[in-house]
Order: sequence, then structure tokens, then C-alpha cells
Amino acid sequence: MATDRQSIHGQWSSRLAFILAATGSAVGLGNIWKFPYIAGENGGGAFVLVYLLCIAVIGIPIMMAEVMLGRRGRQSPINTMDTLAREEKVSSHWKWLGGAGMLAGFLILSYYSVIAGWALAYVFRTGSGLFTGLTADGVQSIFNNLVSEPERLLAWHTIFMVMTMFVVARGVSGGLEKAVRMLMPALFVLLFVLVGYAWNSGAFQQAAMFLFQPDFSRITANGVLIAMGHAFFTLSLGMGAIMVYGSYLPQNASIARTSIAVALMDTLVALLAGLAIFPIVFANGLEPGVGPGLIFQTLPIAFGHMDGGAFFGMLFFILLVFAAWTSAISLIEPAVAWLVENRGMTRVFAAVAAGLATWVFGLLTVFSFNIWSEVKLLSAIPVFRDSTLFDLLDYLTANIMLPLGGLLIAIFAAWKMSRASSVDELAMGERFFYPLWRFLVRYITPVAVIIVFLSAIDIL
Ligand code: PHE
Repeated sequence: MATDRQSIHGQWSSRLAFILAATGSAVGLGNIWKFPYIAGENGGGAFVLVYLLCIAVIGIPIMMAEVMLGRRGRQSPINTMDTLAREEKVSSHWKWLGGAGMLAGFLILSYYSVIAGWALAYVFRTGSGLFTGLTADGVQSIFNNLVSEPERLLAWHTIFMVMTMFVVARGVSGGLEKAVRMLMPALFVLLFVLVGYAWNSGAFQQAAMFLFQPDFSRITANGVLIAMGHAFFTLSLGMGAIMVYGSYLPQNASIARTSIAVALMDTLVALLAGLAIFPIVFANGLEPGVGPGLIFQTLPIAFGHMDGGAFFGMLFFILLVFAAWTSAISLIEPAVAWLVENRGMTRVFAAVAAGLATWVFGLLTVFSFNIWSEVKLLSAIPVFRDSTLFDLLDYLTANIMLPLGGLLIAIFAAWKMSRASSVDELAMGERFFYPLWRFLVRYITPVAVIIVFLSAIDIL
């Protein structure tokens, strides 16, 4: 039954290469920048618990489904869905699921690149010793200065987009595989160093309680939706990134084991980031809920007071840039693969075209932090009262588009695709684990996503 389709874009050199690439995609700004600040904004413990639950019962099964569809279709998400829909004799409209994912990836990258630009800027700010000895106030004003200048943000955003498109243009396996292999372990080590610092000099216990002691009175329906959305975001699910990476996965690799490995590493990085950041927040009397600037306003305090802080700080932000880089590539890969397949473009041309479009759209985010910071399109709706254009873009993509994409992927993989096809592609036998996967994807995932959506609707 196995198909003998091959991807025209190449293949990962091994299962390990795929794990590294998928981990590279999963581990990014979502873990280190976004997770801490949304956990801070949504009350901590209860939010973290819901997030972990979503990773286990929704995230891992959907990741397996996405890799499975990708490997079976062996093309960009649109064409993969088109091919599989025909093969399974269901409506060819399913290909639009691939199209919607491409759009989500484009929208996410447009703001992702701006934030990655902040990290780039911080490589130089920490490296030059700018933060040495500064108080929380001083660190905060450096952050505010950076984001208040559109030209600067634009310059960093431009540099990051050029870096991203450069790797994408060269093809995924060559440079990317090698980079991830060295950088991921380094990132882990550095996070441990930071947690060690926080353990010694921060309010570690208070932070651990904040993160792990659930207080359900502090989480709202909207908070649950944000936690679920983040489970998709952090694992790169619901938009085809993992699907397209799956399309380059060798046929003999175990989908279940690779998916679990990726999810575990991703979760570990997020929790370590939380344990590095919150002790500093509490020890310096900062607010956990300050929003997107959180890591940029806390970690430099630690670096400013550590021996060798300028060096470690620089190293940390370099690694953060790399983590963001390997994620950014996967955000645009579905679109680039599609442009090559259907528009007959060369990879280089496709990368330039997709990159330019993303760069232009990124201006919306650049201006959200300065000249348009008072533009609040949906201020009539209470939860969006203070939301800037960037906030809305983030909400739309992470909390609506990704979970919706994931829901449809689950429906396709477990209801539309025949049992025989998924048994064949997952190749995990027909005993315990396969039925468990199928049960989760058939019932638990769709029901959970729908319940969370419905309960969040009355926020409107
Ligand atoms: N998972 C990435 C992160 O946590 C972001 C991402 C989302 C990448 C969706 C690809 C697809 O930073």
C-alpha cells in the first residue's frame, strides 16, 4: 500500500535530521519570548496546566497526523491535500486547507520577523555591555527606545527577512540541517545557565509557584483559548509547516516516536525559559503581565549583574535569533514549495517573491509599536480594547487560524482518510498505540477544539 511518491524538493538525510529540523521549527520565539509573556498575562499556573494538557492530548496526535499527511502526499500542503483528497475519493476542496495554512504562515512570519529583529538588536546591546549594572528601570527604557523608532525596527526586520530567505533559497536540507545540529544543544546549555542564575539570585520559589501552582480563578475562557492556540503555535501545527517537513521524511522513520521527541524538547525549552525569566521578574518587582516586551525587560537585568554577563547575554540572544531563524524558514517553506511546484519558479525566485511580500506586510507590526500604537481596530470588543494591529494579527493567526487548521487536519486524517491508509503510513502496528492515536484524533481533538472555541465565543 505504501506509495512510492518522492518529493521534488529533496529529502532529509535521516530520521535524526528530521527531528532536528522539526525541533528547529517548533523551538523558537514561541517558547522563549511568547510563552513567558502570555503565561504572565493569563495568571500563570492554571494557564500552564491547560497548555501542557493541550500539548499532550491535542498537540502530539495532530503533529503525527500532519507528518503522516505530508509524507504520504510528498508535496507542498496544497498539492498534498489535493492528491490525498483524490486518492481517498473526497472533495478536492480539501486542498484549500493547504492554502489557508500557507496564508497563516505568511501572516505569522510577517510579525515573527519583527520580533526576531528585536532579538538581533539585543545581540549588540548586550554584547556591548550596555546593560551592565542597570536597574529594571534603565533596562525598560532601553527597550522602549528601541520599539519607539520605526526606522530601527524596520532595519532589523529587513536583516532578519534577508537571513531567512537566504537559507530558504538554498534549499532546506543543506545549511539548515547542519546549523540546527549545533545550535539546539547550545541553546539548552545556555538556558540551564540562566535558570542557574535565576535559582541563585532571583525569587525562584515564588516563580515556581506562579508557574506550577494552578489557581483556576485566574484563568478565563479567553485564557484557555490562548493556551490552546499556543500549543499549536509552539509545535508549529495547523498551518502545514510540519506537513511540508513531513513530506521530506524518509519512508522508514517512525512518525510517532519522532513527534513525541519533538514535542518533549519543545516543552522543555518553554518551561526552562519560564524558570529563567520569572524569578527575575519577581526579584525585581516587575509585572508578569507586561506583555511582548517581557524577556527584553527582564533577562538583560540578569545579564547586567552576572560575571561575564555581556558575553553570556550576547550568546543568549544569538541563540534566540537562531531558534527564530529555524522557525521562520518553516513558516514560509509551504508557500515556497508551492510556488516552485505550481508556478514553475526556481527556488531562489520563489524565496525572493515570498520574502518581499512578507517583508511589506511586516510593516503593520513595525508601526504597531510606534506611529500606529493607538490604532485599535476592534476596541469596541472588550477583550480587544487595548489590542494593537500586531496583537490582532497574533490573535487571529495563533488562536483562530492554527486551531481551526488543526481541527480540519484531524477531521481529514481520522474521518476522511481510510483506516487502511493511516495504518499503512503510520506503521505502528494495529494494537494499542494506533487505536489510541485514532481515538484521540477522531474524537478528543475535534471536540476539545470545538468546546474551547464555543466557550470563547461569548468573549465577543
Ligand atoms: N513554533 C514556532 C515557535 O514556537 C513558531 C511557528 C509556528 C513556526 C507555526 C512554524 C509554524 O516559535
